[in-house]
Amino acid sequence: MKILAFETSCDETSVAVVENGKNVLSNVISTQIDIHREYGGVVPEIASRHHIENIMPVFTEAMRQAKCSLDDIDYIAVTNTPGLIGSLLVGLMFAKSLSWANKIPLLPINHINGHIFSNFIENDIELPAVSLVVSGGHTNLYYIDEIDKEIKITLLGETLDDAVGETYDKIARVLRLPYPGGPEIDRLSKNGKDILQIKKPKVEEYNFSFSGIKTYITNYVNNEKMKGNTISKENVAKSLQEIVSEVLSEKVLKVMKNMKVNTILVSGGVSANGRLREKFREISEKENVKVIFPKLEYCTDNAAMIGCAAYYELKNKGMYLDNTEDNYKVDAISTKGE
Ligand code: KG4
Ligand code: ZN
Repeated sequence: MKILAFETSCDETSVAVVENGKNVLSNVISTQIDIHREYGGVVPEIASRHHIENIMPVFTEAMRQAKCSLDDIDYIAVTNTPGLIGSLLVGLMFAKSLSWANKIPLLPINHINGHIFSNFIENDIELPAVSLVVSGGHTNLYYIDEIDKEIKITLLGETLDDAVGETYDKIARVLRLPYPGGPEIDRLSKNGKDILQIKKPKVEEYNFSFSGIKTYITNYVNNEKMKGNTISKENVAKSLQEIVSEVLSEKVLKVMKNMKVNTILVSGGVSANGRLREKFREISEKENVKVIFPKLEYCTDNAAMIGCAAYYELKNKGMYLDNTEDNYKVDAISTKGE
C-alpha cells in the first residue's frame, strides 16, 4: 500500500511516499530555516507564503523520486493539527484538492502522532513501549500497546510550561546564538564543562517543567554580564545538555519500571540531540532495554512520519476505507488536541 503524505505545520514543506508504513520511497523536505534565522524564530505569515511557493515543486520531486504516478497512490495523508494555521492550510488545501480531483481517500493526521510513528520507519517495534516526544512545541510521554490488533496510545505526562525544544531555542537567544538553538547548543556543548548547579525541577507524576531551567540560565547569563565577566557559551550549553537529558531519562525510566516496559522510543526534533542519544544508549546497556531513535532525517519535521502514522491509523481501522464522499470531507483544521 502506497501513501502520499504532506507535512506543512511549521517551517518545513515536506512530501513523501511511504509503502506499507515502513519503506520510504521518497521524503523531500524544503526547509525555511535560513529565511527565519534573520528574525530569530519562525514568522508565521512568511512561513505560509513560502509553503505556497514550495508545495508544488516539492510534491513533483517526491513523486519523481518515488518513481510513481497518482494512479499508484492508495491514500493521501496530511497533517491537520497542531501547527501554524496558515502553514497547515497550505498542505491541507493542496492534499484535499488532489484527493478530490483524483478520487484518492484523504486521511487527516495529527502531527504528534507523526513524531511517535517516526520510530516505526525501518524498525520492528516490540510493544508495549514508552514513547517520549521532544519537539519545539511538545514534550509528551506516552504508553503504547497493541490490544486486539489495535495500537493504543495513552498520554501519561506532558510539560506544564515550556517544551524542551522551546527551552533550547530561548536559551540560544539569550546566548545570542542563531535560530534554531538546539543544534547550536548541541554542537557547542562538546567543548564545555557541566559547571552550573541547575536544580532538577520537582514535578509530579510523569509531567515535566522547563521554565525554571530557562530562568536559572537566563539569570546566570545576565548576572555575569552585569559583573563584566565573560561567559563560556560552551559551559552553559554543556550544563543545559546534562540537566535536560537527566530530567527526560529519569521520567522515562520511571515509566519503564512502573509499567514494566522494555522498549523506549524517542522522537521529535530534540531526539537529534547528541547527549540525549548517548544518555539513552547508556540506559539501554545498563537496564538491558531496547532504545530506538529515528534516523536524523525523521527527527525534525518530515512527511515520511505522517505517511507512516497514516498507515497505522488505517491498520487500526482494519485497513478499510471505502471511496464514499465522506472520505473527502475532512474538516479544514481541527483545533482539538493542541
Ligand atoms: O520536531 P521539530 O522539527 O518541530 C516541531 O514539531 O516543533 O522540532 C524542532 C525543535 C527546535 O526547537 C530545535 O531547536 C530542536 O528541535 N532541535 C534540537 C536539535 N535539533 C533540532 N534540539 C537539541 N539538539 C538538537 N540536535
Ligand atoms: Zn514536529
